[in-house]
Amino acid sequence: MNKYIIQGGNKLNGEVNISGFKNAILAIIPATLLAKDKCRIENVPLIKDVYILVEMMKELGAEVYLDEKNNAIDIDTSMIVECTASYDIAKALRASYYLVGAGLGRFKEAHVAYPGGCDIGSRPIDQHIKGFEALGSNVEIEHGIINCKADELVGTKIYMDVISVGATINVMLSAVMAKDKTIIENAAKEPHIVDTANFLNAMGADVRGAGTDVIRINGVDKLHGCTYSVIPDQIEAGTYIVAAAATEGNVLVKNVIPKHLESITAKLKELGVEIIENDDSIRVIGKPNLKKVNIKTLPYPGFPTDLQQPISVLLTKAEGISVVTESIFEGRFKYVDELKRMGANIKVDGRSAIIRGATPLSGTKIMATDLRAGAACIIAGLIADGETEVYNIEHVERGYERIEEKLKGLGVDIKRVTE
Ligand code: EPZ
Repeated sequence: MNKYIIQGGNKLNGEVNISGFKNAILAIIPATLLAKDKCRIENVPLIKDVYILVEMMKELGAEVYLDEKNNAIDIDTSMIVECTASYDIAKALRASYYLVGAGLGRFKEAHVAYPGGCDIGSRPIDQHIKGFEALGSNVEIEHGIINCKADELVGTKIYMDVISVGATINVMLSAVMAKDKTIIENAAKEPHIVDTANFLNAMGADVRGAGTDVIRINGVDKLHGCTYSVIPDQIEAGTYIVAAAATEGNVLVKNVIPKHLESITAKLKELGVEIIENDDSIRVIGKPNLKKVNIKTLPYPGFPTDLQQPISVLLTKAEGISVVTESIFEGRFKYVDELKRMGANIKVDGRSAIIRGATPLSGTKIMATDLRAGAACIIAGLIADGETEVYNIEHVERGYERIEEKLKGLGVDIKRVTE
């Protein structure tokens, strides 16, 4: 069992470099399966989920070299002849379901165990299946395995009933070599969908409109390898921006695309935090006497659900009652019980959390229940009075590269302990 021990009260000061985007790389690695060739991916975050996905690709028969010194991955998928991923490897993370779309796209067949992932709600995959079937695949789920098989894949118009990042990406992966044209309507618009589309186009695909709610794909016969650099992780960036504001620090968050962070920086300005935007960095200057705000999580470009948990900690410092409504995942308030044990005054009512501030937090032992809840626990420890021990930090290390080192670099008194 590993934990972080954090002494609260230090203001975050200095500079932090943001790593490549977890939710982009987790789509791009499986997407390499679509070409019988070599790919080199750069700006790769060295996080647990990447190591797990690399193991999955090796189990499929890929040759993978993780160039850790350069945060890069060389993947050769030439030797892969089928796409079959067992429960043992697929259960580890949600992104394993991208192997279905990529396997279908390359082999017109895939057998992948039902995905795992953060426990933040039911997380169905009906829209993924709707897309695969619309393209002509037969889909059966048996003994926990998603079995897809198609004689051929033919492009068509697919209207997504729900705005889904995963389903939009998975349909893109399976459609890039389908016959004719595929149109995805009501598509998700997240930056990592654009990043994945750019990667597919670098491999020779013809994907247009990614980042809008209509994506048009002209099927091509074959894809080839490429070299590609992943965009910065706006959720990691948002986490450090919130942490800097919560500790009333002064931090330059580097290697970001400010446009991707507009919903977060706008909300922080509303709270009274000073934000200075540069071309590829954002300076955050925390202020006292924050004003209450209301937040509703929405698909991009709305406020991201992945920052709902971290920013709720910041709202415990705002004067008055702030309301946070989680419209994406029904089970994403588990961390509130941990914050209440630190003295937070938060009431969860259905999809909303009512946060009364300003309420001081005091350090104690708390548990990370999922990746972003873990980030929230760490931010709570930064501002709490005294010492906080955050347990189950395996969740955190799945998605934040070198977080202990980066926080120490900003003046935080944190140490990682194995019990
Ligand atoms: C991706 O999950 C991210 N994970 C999540 O990040 C992120 O919170 C989420 O997108 C939303 O931005 C990865 O990219 C690996 P969705 P995904 O499909 O694709 C419903 C993190 O912390 N839905 O966009 O699973 C679903 O229940 C993780 O980094 C269906 O109803 O999310 C949810 O309410 C957590 N049917 C909503 O859509 C489907 O077939 C959005 O889910 C698919 C989804």
